[in-house]
Amino acid sequence: MTRLSFPETFVWGVATSSYQIEGAANEDGRGESIWDRFARVPGKIVDSGNGDVACDHYHLYRQDVALMKRLGVRAYRFSIAWPRILPAGRGAVEPRGLDFYSRLVDALLEAGIEPYATLYHWDLPQVLENEGGWAVRTTAEAFVSFAEVVTRRLGDRVKNWITHNEPWCASILGYQRGLHAPGVENWTIALEASHHLLLSHGWAVPVVRANVADAKVGIAVNLNPGEPASPSDADRDACRRFDGFFNRWFLDPLYGRGYPADMVADYAADGHVPPSGLSVVSSGDLETIATPCDFLGINYYARTVVRSDRIPEAQNAPRSVHLAPKSQWTEMGWEVWPKGLTDILVRVHQDYAPSRMLVTENGASYSTPPGADGHVPDVDRIRYLQGHLVAAHRAIEAGVPLDGYFVWSLLDNFEWERGYTQRFGITWVDYATRQRIAKDSALWYARVIAEGAVDE
Ligand code: FCB
Repeated sequence: MTRLSFPETFVWGVATSSYQIEGAANEDGRGESIWDRFARVPGKIVDSGNGDVACDHYHLYRQDVALMKRLGVRAYRFSIAWPRILPAGRGAVEPRGLDFYSRLVDALLEAGIEPYATLYHWDLPQVLENEGGWAVRTTAEAFVSFAEVVTRRLGDRVKNWITHNEPWCASILGYQRGLHAPGVENWTIALEASHHLLLSHGWAVPVVRANVADAKVGIAVNLNPGEPASPSDADRDACRRFDGFFNRWFLDPLYGRGYPADMVADYAADGHVPPSGLSVVSSGDLETIATPCDFLGINYYARTVVRSDRIPEAQNAPRSVHLAPKSQWTEMGWEVWPKGLTDILVRVHQDYAPSRMLVTENGASYSTPPGADGHVPDVDRIRYLQGHLVAAHRAIEAGVPLDGYFVWSLLDNFEWERGYTQRFGITWVDYATRQRIAKDSALWYARVIAEGAVDE
């Protein structure tokens, strides 16, 4: 067994998001979000769950902060519910919403935990969706006023800001696949939404900096390394396209390259965008999106093995796909593939060279319940986290400026279209009683943090 030590300054964190944990959906003037609306559409959420109550973190946040303190967690990534702050999307500010986050931040600082605030983790005010949502430019403008209000109030205490969480999910799952709120299924709209998300990020960066002395601001993208299922030309091309769709469509414009030409050509060929590219891009937008940031957040869960569906399978030889055995899938159906984390970190470092990187989410869904002794023996999750921390260490050894790691998630919570059927927490939540139990993975993570090292 080798012990791998992380740098002294490494940020050991846990992550959550507002809609997934807060509950208190109708309290203190909170407006309706697209997820409140979407979760009520029959058939959209597998168990018909919603975020009305969730983990009731809105009321139990002190207990949750105390738990983090006990575990020795150094940083907490949470998100701010836009409809709590601006119930009508823009304009009138709801002070009780701001007060909640202010209390949370004070509690964190008192516990010695560094706050990392995400401005947008998918709970768009429904009123803005009624006006076109992320498909229209005015939503990006409204986001900037939201960023302004929030950073003005919290910027004296919160130094680390993430503008958006996973613009791929917000645009593609929300507007192309219809699996997430607002449930639209239209390629053109989804690609336009991706542009407005990125544009609003670029606009918000200087706003955060203006309101926060010593601000560190970035964005969190979910990246997914693709691998061709075979060396055939067809699979290789499918993999190029997957990578363009998932990773490069976001990374290229963020790092000043504009939208990837091969993807614009593919989307144009499919009729999703005009041959000249997205029609919603105005002059200056690409410069805005490429505004330099202080860090890049990477959310990593799994890789994707890509097989072409454009030619008959039989012609797509040789076919040798070496996936991990079935036992190596989490309950989300996502492959356990720690090496993908090293690969994606090294690749982003080489291709885009962010000055600083953070793993802003990584974790696994396993439903292991408490045993008779009250412990939650979630050994699969420990194995997953350990493997990925080793993979993160490898990236550091390879020269990647990786400064921190946030486990998804502190708590079991509302997993979007999967409702409460998926448990990602290192803390068990009994949804009937709201009781929390630190799982064995939480105790394991506490030890890793205390020692600043992980065993290989
Ligand atoms: C990410 C989301 C997060 C959570 C995890 C499992 O895509 O950012 O909210 O749902 O997946």
